[in-house]
Amino acid sequence: MKNIYSNIFSFNKKILGKSIKILKKGNLVGLPTETVYGLAGNAYLKKSINKIYKLKKRTSKNPLIVHYLKYEDANEDIDFNDDFFKLYKKFCPGPITFILKKKKDSKINNNVTAKLDTVAVRFPSHKVVRAILKKLDFPLAMPSANMSKKVSPVDAVSVAEEFKKKLKFIINGGKSKIGIESTVIDLTDKPKILRPGIISHKQLKKVLKKKVNYVNKNSKIKSPGMLTKHYSPGIPVYINQKTVKKDHAFISFGKNFKRDKNTFNLSKNSNLKEAASNLYAIFRKIKNLKYKKIYVAKIPNKGIGIAINDRLRRASD
Ligand code: TXA
Ligand code: MG
Repeated sequence: MKNIYSNIFSFNKKILGKSIKILKKGNLVGLPTETVYGLAGNAYLKKSINKIYKLKKRTSKNPLIVHYLKYEDANEDIDFNDDFFKLYKKFCPGPITFILKKKKDSKINNNVTAKLDTVAVRFPSHKVVRAILKKLDFPLAMPSANMSKKVSPVDAVSVAEEFKKKLKFIINGGKSKIGIESTVIDLTDKPKILRPGIISHKQLKKVLKKKVNYVNKNSKIKSPGMLTKHYSPGIPVYINQKTVKKDHAFISFGKNFKRDKNTFNLSKNSNLKEAASNLYAIFRKIKNLKYKKIYVAKIPNKGIGIAINDRLRRASD
């Protein structure tokens, strides 16, 4: 398929070479991952990191995730522990981010971690980002490729529309299969989920064989970006709704809803995984259709539903 924006490129050997060049120079590229698209830069280079914060209009107090091909590449930057290795073995590469202690002589730029002594680490599974990481001798700092506090993009066109001409190079890797951001788990002390995702509390508990907590909303701010308003489609969102007026959009789930023009179904079969993968794409579609408000049906609060409700709650705050 032809790319409709001149800054979107299909992946091939030439484009791989070009993206390596751009990253080595300290510039940014938009990259597909299995969760959502990311805005990537050299995690060791201050210049690249500052560009990421600036382009996203993100506060420098909200740290970035560092992406590696495999844990061996991170040995000099990060202090790994037993809990990490258990989860790594089971879920990596894949949609999970670990908060771990940063090593004293780590090369990760201080601005990546907002000067904290911990780092968020992820090993993505998407073949495009893996092919790129394989060719680099530095890891990639990569937040979701959206303006701060807005909805994460799940395709290359959404990234192009987010940053317009300010981002010169985006690789098209198809639609992100998972569709919501990685599960973030803090392993610096007793395991704690900071951001729910596709990898669920139950799966984590089973592998770690110990209690796993959700971060307590009233506890000291562990992750600055977790508490402010996030994932906003830019119009008001109302959750746990049963009906909607004709001129507003309704996001439904399951079979028991009318199929009106203004209704967008997350999953007709009430499949939560499918619902998660459709959520952000539907948010964007509704916004592009110029609806002024979004009403959302109640989503079961179990398994992946916990991650979906987390995003909906933040979008509606
Ligand atoms: O799926 C994903 O994780 C995507 C793809 C592109 O990899 N990335 C992503 O990055 O969602 P971002 O920057 O949008 O979200 C990272 C979250 C933020 O809420 C941030 O506050 C938190 O991780 N975080 C980063 N470093 C942290 C740290 N040292 N301690 C606690 N939280 C941290
Ligand atoms: Mg984000």
